[in-house]
Amino acid sequence: MFQNEKQNLESIIKELSKVISKLLVLVVFLLGLVVILVITSINGLPEIFKKRPANEAKIDIPKIEDKNKEVEKTADMWVAPDTSDILKEANKDVIYYGYKLISNTAYYLGPKGKVASMSNGMNCQNCHLNAGTKPFGNNYGGVASTYPKFRERSGRIENIHKRVNDCFERSLNGKTLDTLGKEMQAIVAYIKWLGKDVTKGKKPTGSGITELTYMDRAANPAHGKEIYMQKCKSCHTETGAGKLNADGLTYQYPPLWGEHSYNNGAGLYRLSRFAGYIKSNMPQGVSYDNPQLSDEEAWDVAAFVNSQTRPKKDLHLDWPKISGKPIDNPFGPYADNFSEQQHKFGPFKPIEQAKKTLGKNK
Ligand code: HEC
Ligand code: HEC
Repeated sequence: MFQNEKQNLESIIKELSKVISKLLVLVVFLLGLVVILVITSINGLPEIFKKRPANEAKIDIPKIEDKNKEVEKTADMWVAPDTSDILKEANKDVIYYGYKLISNTAYYLGPKGKVASMSNGMNCQNCHLNAGTKPFGNNYGGVASTYPKFRERSGRIENIHKRVNDCFERSLNGKTLDTLGKEMQAIVAYIKWLGKDVTKGKKPTGSGITELTYMDRAANPAHGKEIYMQKCKSCHTETGAGKLNADGLTYQYPPLWGEHSYNNGAGLYRLSRFAGYIKSNMPQGVSYDNPQLSDEEAWDVAAFVNSQTRPKKDLHLDWPKISGKPIDNPFGPYADNFSEQQHKFGPFKPIEQAKKTLGKNK
């Protein structure tokens, strides 16, 4: 009997110690888990566990403005501040008015504008997409940080106001805004707000327009016409005149040539600006990391569209120093011996090469 009880007790103790050792393992495991959780909540998850935004993972450090020393090459794309945060700013009314002027310019300042009639009916955001926030959508990410700056076209130091008025006179084929007026103050406040987090002097990655490499041949307007008919005509129409909204004030599809389009002094009239712009943004809906046109198609469509008629501006005061003209400026005289035709359609590589040599010999 006694013997039996002793045996029982021993087996109970054995069982107990088994259970205890299992419990110990569990406790150690749980402790470990707690330690890991505490560490990651302080330091954040290790890089490999983070879900990267779809865009970022694919970035191959895009090449922008390669002649422009201000560019800082990083893998981080400029991301515009959230426009709903405008409401947190002390001068929110001014900034918000600027936002509205840029996204709906025609309503305020177009041919039948509520405030003034001083531009062609296009909106700034027809070219500066999503109110100047889209990566490689000709956005304003690098404006607040780099202006005032010297510009070869005027031969002087320009502030943001002057640059905005340039687009009014050229891209919107219109008149200038009073620099001290409410509208200009609002536009500049909005552009500055967009770039408020960018380090002074830096042009962030993803700002402005995609820089395409030059082709070995000249751009071909005839081939460009075929592309236009396949991929652009459905919206911008066969005559290039675009399509107005039902309100008759603003465009559903903005014009690409003709009397209501940008004039021959506008940025898009340069082949590299047009080609780089459409590569990352057209047909509507594409993006820099998911383009639809090949580089060649982009250059050729650019050549076709910029061969059509459009308003002309008096440009005789532009480029006071001719050696400062960009390679694709289609109006002579030039510091080199290439023709206007070649400066308009390319091939651009020989011109680029000559420019480098010229620079070295100076
Ligand atoms: C037809 C197209 C078009 C329209 C419309 C247009 N712009 Fe522009 N804008 C351009 C192009 C092209 C550039 C030059 C971009 C480059 O060279 O990288 C430019 C440049 C600018 C810049 C300088 C950007 C920089 O990073 O240096 C500012 C500021 C600007 N535009 C403001 C405006 C404002 C404000 C409006 C409306 C009043 C407007 N633009 C309308 C095409 C347009
Ligand atoms: C599905 C319709 C659609 C197609 C197709 C399309 N676009 Fe656009 N395009 C637009 C819209 C809409 C805008 C204005 C964007 C905005 O305001 O947000 C625009 C703007 C533009 C602009 C700048 C504004 C201007 O009028 O100068 C250019 C240049 C342009 N498109 C060229 C092209 C080219 C070239 C093609 C063909 C490769 C093309 N687009 C195909 C709808 C389209």
